[in-house]
Amino acid sequence: MRLKDRVVVITGAGSGIGRASAKEFAREGARAVVVDINLRRAQESVEQITATGGTAIAVETDVSSAASVQSLVKRVLATLRRVDVLINNAAIQVNKTVEATSVDEWNRQLAVNLGGVFLCSKFFLPHLRVTKGTIINMSSVNGFFVEPMCAGYCATKAAIIGLTKGMAIDHGKEGIRVNCICPGYIDAGLAEGYFQAQPDPTAARTAAGKLHALWRIGRPEEVGRAAVFLASDEASFMTGSSVVVDGGFGSGLPP
Ligand SMILES: NC(=O)c1ccc[n+]([C@@H]2O[C@H](COP(=O)([O-])OP(=O)(O)OC[C@H]3O[C@@H](n4cnc5c(N)ncnc54)[C@H](O)[C@@H]3O)[C@@H](O)[C@H]2O)c1
Repeated sequence: MRLKDRVVVITGAGSGIGRASAKEFAREGARAVVVDINLRRAQESVEQITATGGTAIAVETDVSSAASVQSLVKRVLATLRRVDVLINNAAIQVNKTVEATSVDEWNRQLAVNLGGVFLCSKFFLPHLRVTKGTIINMSSVNGFFVEPMCAGYCATKAAIIGLTKGMAIDHGKEGIRVNCICPGYIDAGLAEGYFQAQPDPTAARTAAGKLHALWRIGRPEEVGRAAVFLASDEASFMTGSSVVVDGGFGSGLPP
């Protein structure tokens, strides 16, 4: 077990990549804090983890709210006494052009996707300093390659790459490593929402698979395992990195 007794806080872990990551960390012996705005889904993740012998708690949190994040930090410290790994994974995706995006949709997407990384990092950093812990931010290949109808989402994912490097530089001397993961299409909530927003969702899903050299979209646990590696001592000289887990996105043969 590579992460025995370490405490990992994973935002957006009531679904998709976050839930799969929580399971992978629990399999490596970590105690998982499953954070989500949707408490019922967070509790389902916890049930799945404990059913296989893992340790996890669910905490309802809105990562876009400073008060909510501060109460999460208090709860983690009161219950588990420490934090070793923070995974900033929660995000939403507005599948619209900038012109069609309402001001409220724009502000919400920015507040969750980028503001959530800022707030969770800001309020967990004093405690990560104690454990010489690590932060993993969930970016996307959309941080490098943009696609139609999600300009605002792609902008938040590009910004996370910059924020990751900035935090890595500021906190490296304290022994805190900060990296991000850039997944290709993964069989999880946000990709599904994108397919559903296309005129023919089934065709969109098939075409998306063929954008990858491996000719398929990825599985959430394939991202979770990369997160485990980044959090482990095996990645001790990695910081400020954008780790691409994308099945060769952009290099697939045309269908
Ligand atoms: N699915 C993909 O193809 C893909 C590809 C690249 C990157 N990503 C990134 O991976 C991450 C997870 O994506 P996913 O597809 O698993 O998403 P998902 O929709 O399956 O899960 C996201 C979770 O975040 C939660 N959430 C939303 N707003 C929140 C808030 N304000 N506070 C707390 N929790 C909140 C949701 O309730 C949900 O459980 C995102 O950062 C996304 O940008 C996904």
